[in-house]
Amino acid sequence: MDGHIGLKKIGSHASISEIDDFDLSRLLDKPRLNIERQRSFDERSLSELSIGLARGGMDNYDTYSPGVRSGFDTPASSTRNSFEPHPMVADAWESLRRSLVHFRGQPVGTIAAVDHQAEEVLNYDQVFVRDFVPSALAFLMNGEPDIVKNFLLKTLHLQGWEKRVDRFKLGEGVMPASFKVLHDPVRKTDTLIADFGESAIGRVAPVDSGFWWIILLRAYTKSTGDLSLAESPDCQKGMKLILTLCLSEGFDTFPTLLCADGCCMIDRRMGIYGYPIEIQALFFMALRCALSMLKQDDAEGKECVERIVKRLHALSYHMRSYFWLDFQQLNDIYRYKTEEYSHTAVNKFNVIPDSIPEWVFDFMPTRGGYFIGNVSPARMDFRWFALGNCVAILSSLATPEQSMAIMDLIEARWDELVGEMPLKISYPAIESHEWRIVTGCDPKNTRWSYHNGGSWPVLLWLVTAACIKTGRPQIARRAIELAESRLLKDGWPEYYDGKLGRYIGKQARKYQTWSIAGYLVAKMMLEDPSHLGMISLEEDKQMKPVIKRSSSWTC
Ligand code: GLC
Repeated sequence: MDGHIGLKKIGSHASISEIDDFDLSRLLDKPRLNIERQRSFDERSLSELSIGLARGGMDNYDTYSPGVRSGFDTPASSTRNSFEPHPMVADAWESLRRSLVHFRGQPVGTIAAVDHQAEEVLNYDQVFVRDFVPSALAFLMNGEPDIVKNFLLKTLHLQGWEKRVDRFKLGEGVMPASFKVLHDPVRKTDTLIADFGESAIGRVAPVDSGFWWIILLRAYTKSTGDLSLAESPDCQKGMKLILTLCLSEGFDTFPTLLCADGCCMIDRRMGIYGYPIEIQALFFMALRCALSMLKQDDAEGKECVERIVKRLHALSYHMRSYFWLDFQQLNDIYRYKTEEYSHTAVNKFNVIPDSIPEWVFDFMPTRGGYFIGNVSPARMDFRWFALGNCVAILSSLATPEQSMAIMDLIEARWDELVGEMPLKISYPAIESHEWRIVTGCDPKNTRWSYHNGGSWPVLLWLVTAACIKTGRPQIARRAIELAESRLLKDGWPEYYDGKLGRYIGKQARKYQTWSIAGYLVAKMMLEDPSHLGMISLEEDKQMKPVIKRSSSWTC
């Protein structure tokens, strides 16, 4: 372990969790998180990992920390803890357990919603990969890792299926958007049915599923200390297959990942085609998680790691430079010259200043900033997307300064981004003619509804994690209080509508599982911030970009 300073190795379950825990809780109320601690496997410097210096993958696992059982628990075990949990917590656990799905007697996931009143179930009786993530984290934090392991193995098995849409075959690595277990009570058999996009409305494959799968595999490993799953040949192969889909060379001139509209949480046409921030942030995080778990004991493993390292360098540079927007940068774009040719161009993508929407000039605070929705030739989508920005903080795609700036923006634009129900999935809404063109007249995505400026309680866990990481838990507390004033009473809706998120969503399901799980995870993380380690990666000092232009970051 030449590159790892002062880490003790105690078999494969070795841990520096105490150090992690100490630092995190100590720093919680400080304005700025500045963790100077022993380096973990998450922080393996990219340059150390480049070709020639590659070490065996196994050596790099020595910081997994066994999970700490959280204070927020099922009623049966809450007596162990001295503090009084919020009354909603017990209801949430009960509802979460009602959504459990079993396969041959084993729990393998949670269905998207247990809405008894809904006239049509549509696909809400499926186990969605992305929806299961907060449930999985809740179970891990509660010391129940088996369901997560079963889920990871089941979905890995599904990855092996041949996937076709009409006569076209999808890549081997594609992970399902969702799956369902069919029980035959007569024959006493369970059969799996999966959707890789061939049944999904719009027929879009979920680009995010594979990334969430890798992120969850790391969370499981980090929380349990059980290395055997991630190191198994099947999981190693699964990770490589997912990443092979994204790391192949082609016509791309950017390190970001080119996607179809609707390929992630926003799974309907919303003008996010191109290089959506949600996918880029998840891609970055999955690459970093895979880097910490991939074995390098053969040429294939070494080559994969080498490609990941190169991509991470390019991706972080591109994102931090071109997706980042703050007051200074906005002013620079406003004054851009156009039609520049050659390497010396400042306005590289030929963005025409007239295409900057009016709202962004008022929205941008003097202090603060965010990663915008999309960047491609002559197109910048200036909309704010919550998931991508929170994942950018958690994965350290955002520099510490950028992370602080994102939190500053959330505080400065609280009414717009949080309002009465955390958290707006996107801001602002698109309306009228633009809505017609961009969404294709989608009646579900009307202004300030659903994906188009709607408020999604599931995002509470992500913003809470981002708050803890940036040392600003008071922001998370405010958001959780808002959720507590309504969520249970309203029956855990999927989303809220309106500029302030005051109205239960037009077509929102009740007892939406990830609304419930998201709340539980937020509560458990605030109570025990060491849980953050499952879902957060520290900054890699080697990835510092050369950015000259932004001076408004809060340093
Ligand atoms: C909706 C959401 C999608 C989610 C699914 C199941 O389609 O847009 O993100 O996975 O519902 O809850």
